[in-house]
Amino acid sequence: MIKEQIPDGVGRTAIGVARVRAHESTRRDRLFNDPYAAAFVVADGRRDLAVTAEPSPGLVAMVRHLVLRTRFFDDYLVAAAESGCRQVVTPAAGLDTRAFRLDWPAGTRFYELDMPAVLAFKERVLAEQGAQPAGPRTVIAADLREDWATALIRAGFDPTAPTVWLLEGLLVYLESDDVAAILTTITELSAPGSRLALTHGLGNRGRRQSPEPPAPEHSAAELTDVMGLWRGGLDEDPVAWLDRHGWRAERNDRADVAIAVGRGADYVTSQRSFVTAER
Ligand SMILES: C[S@@+](CC[C@H](N)C(=O)[O-])C[C@H]1O[C@@H](n2cnc3c(N)ncnc32)[C@H](O)[C@@H]1O
Repeated sequence: MIKEQIPDGVGRTAIGVARVRAHESTRRDRLFNDPYAAAFVVADGRRDLAVTAEPSPGLVAMVRHLVLRTRFFDDYLVAAAESGCRQVVTPAAGLDTRAFRLDWPAGTRFYELDMPAVLAFKERVLAEQGAQPAGPRTVIAADLREDWATALIRAGFDPTAPTVWLLEGLLVYLESDDVAAILTTITELSAPGSRLALTHGLGNRGRRQSPEPPAPEHSAAELTDVMGLWRGGLDEDPVAWLDRHGWRAERNDRADVAIAVGRGADYVTSQRSFVTAER
């Protein structure tokens, strides 16, 4: 029997994130527990959960970024659901298992979008694990550079109800025009009271000046050529874009997040932020 696997390309970045989540979940002082992350890594064919034996500073910075953002968005999404956003939509959900592992208020519905091969692999592994979501959950295979809103609405998404959206680890893999189109669609589908959280790259100019390029080790594993996959993301500050389009956006400094979760400001080595917004 042929088992679903994630082919080469941007979808494989989801495996790299799962590896980091699996590793963090084994720490006694972990910032979250993702009980399915290791299963994804194993199903992908690699049995070592360690990111690399002797990580370089660049790789450490990347891992810490992934750990912090996972915890930050865990807290953000559940708080948004508790405050009334009972639709949680994750375009480019990858191997995110928040629908299964977090404590959600009753009535929360989940919509996860990603490439078909990523979702087929994810659903196969979650089924093997007997994973049960906390509420109704729909996965939608779509290329986010094309029309995905129609399929989302067909799947039962209600654009008149408040929604929380998460764009985690996606924008940097897209061209600026594609990011603007996705943000425009999200804006059109967001009823008053909706929220949005995202990570973003440094833009095309910033990409060349990035203070933390991926470490060489990345090319040895599933994060192969990750930098080659980067397309730069939105060519302007996403906070400015969101403010211009009816959102109230803010930056959440990663050092502040690191302090809040008990890892200390030294946990991050460069100034970057997570963006959140409300409308
Ligand atoms: C770095 S992973 C992040 C996954 C997830 N958000 C997380 O943080 O665990 C990037 C994800 O974006 C997805 N992706 C990239 N470009 C996409 C596109 N054009 N359409 C749909 N998904 C895309 C990939 O398949 C992959 O799952």
